Parts: sequence; C-alpha cells; structure tokens
Amino acid sequence: MAITIAMANQKGGVGKTTTTLELAYILNSLGKRVLVIDMDQQCNTTKNADADRSRPTIFDLFNDDDVDMSAAIQKVKNGYSIIAGSPEMSKADKMFDDPSSAYLLKDLVDALAEDFDYFLIDTAPARNIPLNMCYIAADYFIICLDFSEDSLDGIDAMVNDLMKFHKSGKRSLSDAKILGAVIIRYRDINIGNAIKDLTLEKIETIIPDIIKTKETPFLLTVRLAAAVDEAKISHLPIQVYKHSATAAIDYRYIADEILRRVEK
Ligand SMILES: Nc1ncnc2c1ncn2[C@@H]1O[C@H](COP(=O)(O)OP(=O)(O)O)[C@@H](O)[C@H]1O
Ligand SMILES: [Mg+2]
Repeated sequence: MAITIAMANQKGGVGKTTTTLELAYILNSLGKRVLVIDMDQQCNTTKNADADRSRPTIFDLFNDDDVDMSAAIQKVKNGYSIIAGSPEMSKADKMFDDPSSAYLLKDLVDALAEDFDYFLIDTAPARNIPLNMCYIAADYFIICLDFSEDSLDGIDAMVNDLMKFHKSGKRSLSDAKILGAVIIRYRDINIGNAIKDLTLEKIETIIPDIIKTKETPFLLTVRLAAAVDEAKISHLPIQVYKHSATAAIDYRYIADEILRRVEK
C-alpha cells in the first residue's frame, strides 16, 4: 500500500521543497517507486526537477475530469516521477471551495496506490484549500522549520488545522499523523540549541495523541551547507552534487528514519 507524506509549514523558505526533492531522490535510489506532487503555485519543485511543463499539471487534473492521468505523470532525470505544479493553483481557493473538492487529492493518490510506494507532496507556504486537501490525503506530515523561532508558529497552525479534520464524535476526515519535523540550515551553536530545545519541547507537548504515531514525532536537523544552494542552482539532488556534504548525510539519515517508522 502506498504511503503519502506531505512537507508543510505556512511559512516559506523553511525547506519544504528541498526536503521533498531530496527525499524523492533518496527513496527512489533505494528502489521505492516515488511520485512527487507539486501543490505549490510557485512550482519550485517542478522547476528544480526539470519537469516538462507542457504536460497536464495537478491543477489540470483537479479542474478537468477528462485530463489523462498518465500524461500528467512524468519520470524526470533524477529517477522519480512527478506531477507538475501550476501557477493556476493560485485560483484553487476559489475554484475548489465546494465540499466534494476537498477529496480531489485523496482520490488521485488512491487511484495510483498500486503504481507507487511513496507519494511525496510539496505544499505552498499558506493555509489554503490545497493544504486542506493534503490533510485529507496524507498519511503523514513532516513539518519543515528553519533556524528561527517564528517558523515554530507553523507547528501550532498545523496542529490546529489538522485537529479540525480529526473531529471526535463525527466521522473523521483525516487519518494523517505528524511523523516529525526537520530543521534546515542547522548550526550547532548555543542559540541553535535553544531553538532546537524549544522545538523539541513543543513537539513533545502540544501534539495530541490522535495526530501522532505511537512514537514521539522525530526532530531531525539538516546542517547549513553551501552545497544545498549549489545543488539547487545545478538542478541536482544534494546527494548527486556532493554526496559527502553534511546536508547530504543528514538527509540520508532522515530518509532512513522515515523508512524505519513508516515501514515497520
Ligand atoms: N541545509 C541547508 N543549508 C543551506 N541552505 C539550505 C538548506 N536547506 C535549504 N536551504 C536553502 O533555503 C532556501 C529555502 O528552501 P526551500 O526548500 O525552497 O524552502 P520552502 O520550500 O519551504 O520555501 C533554498 O534556497 C534552499 O536552497
Ligand atoms: Mg517551496
């Protein structure tokens, strides 16, 4: 059965795209069949993966039942498959505001569940309808955080919003759990440890049991590394650009931890 993991935080610049692309590459190289879905209207994941942008996009699939799903799924040079994002997703809050549209992403991943092992979803820095679609479609969330206190607000926002989809007493709309959080641009300095400690405390205290797995959500770090931006400019995974980079090592560790948790 395929596993759907979404990277999220209402804040931008916190590593959602980098984490999606890197995990896609690593999981694919471990033999998993990976489909990346770019839900962000900025399409950074789509651009970085060098996806063919003349193909039908996620917006086209949501907007028109007649669009051919197989035409929208493309294998990119880094080995995994992707459904491209679209700038038209900026209209999603207006166009997909009816209750049945909430299931568009869930229906899509369910239809492809036999063809892939992992769906990795990159989300926009917003609390919008596409993110609500993720709450319904995803099995797990990874909260992306940068090295600052304000990205911690993203944890509260996600917990609040996700809980609305887990209404007790009524039929729950979502089974999604918060698998863990990743801090990017990590530096092992005193102030950094304070932010890490604060984050850990938050993760351990404010996430209700109903939206976490049996294990406490993980908190892992990706060290600040020049190779991350260099790899991005080259449109290469960090693993390929510089396998020995600290950030490359950290992402391999994160991928192992994810696999250990979701495949046991
Ligand atoms: N570990 C890291 N070290 C240095 N730069 C990083 C690291 N992780 C991410 N970045 C850079 O931070 C910026 C924001 O990351 P990105 O993944 O685009 O965030 P988001 O998708 O949440 O907006 C990018 O320029 C990326 O290259
Ligand atoms: Mg992004």
